[in-house]
Amino acid sequence: MRQLIAGNWKMNGLLADSLERASAIAAEAPRLACDVLVCPPATVLRAVAGKLAGTVVAVGGQDCHAEAQGAHTGDLSAAMLKDAGASAVILGHSERRADHGESSALVRAKVAAAMAAGLLPIVCVGETEAERLAGRKEEVVRSQLRDSLPDDFAGVIAYEPVWAIGTGRTPTEADVAAMHASIRAALSDRLGAGGRQLRILYGGSVKPTNARALLALPEVGGALVGGASLVAADFLAIAAAAAR
Ligand code: PGA
Repeated sequence: MRQLIAGNWKMNGLLADSLERASAIAAEAPRLACDVLVCPPATVLRAVAGKLAGTVVAVGGQDCHAEAQGAHTGDLSAAMLKDAGASAVILGHSERRADHGESSALVRAKVAAAMAAGLLPIVCVGETEAERLAGRKEEVVRSQLRDSLPDDFAGVIAYEPVWAIGTGRTPTEADVAAMHASIRAALSDRLGAGGRQLRILYGGSVKPTNARALLALPEVGGALVGGASLVAADFLAIAAAAAR
């Protein structure tokens, strides 16, 4: 399975710098052995998708509403993201779970909406520092997986320990390998053969300096990259470290 390197641009970038970054990534992407996805802010998504049309770089959203349309001021539906050029969407990111109080049940409804609209859902799970210190990380992640995924889930999982996001800290390689094995087992139990095929990304302070080691671990199907995805050269260096 090819690894997927996904850039989560979060709430960063105006039109000019977003297009410049997209072009720089697209110029190098054909030489990469992995799949590449960028997730820009919604305001520039259509323009970035236009710039990347005909290239190997895919475009995704960072969130969508659970409903197809309606009176939801400020929200975007999965179909709107698709219409703007997205083929994927990040859902249940810890920043949305924390800043917007998103429960796993809501995330599951969003995942179903994304799948119905034909978007690839990238579902984020991960424990907080307190949960980790309490020895509860596997239990927390398993319950997030159980409650965030619909029974017919087909998409990507991103394991992102909350305490590793934007902090420069990462779990040990052994911890990442153990958690990815645990997630794989949970997916297989829940989804059968389908669960054995899904990519499980690692996210949280992935940098050019640690990417090769993280991406070489068993069951790591790629990376979800935040801060380092804002510098095209750094994002490309991470993608170049993809092991397969
Ligand atoms: P980071 O963010 O790479 O800046 O730690 C990762 C993420 O939030 O997806």
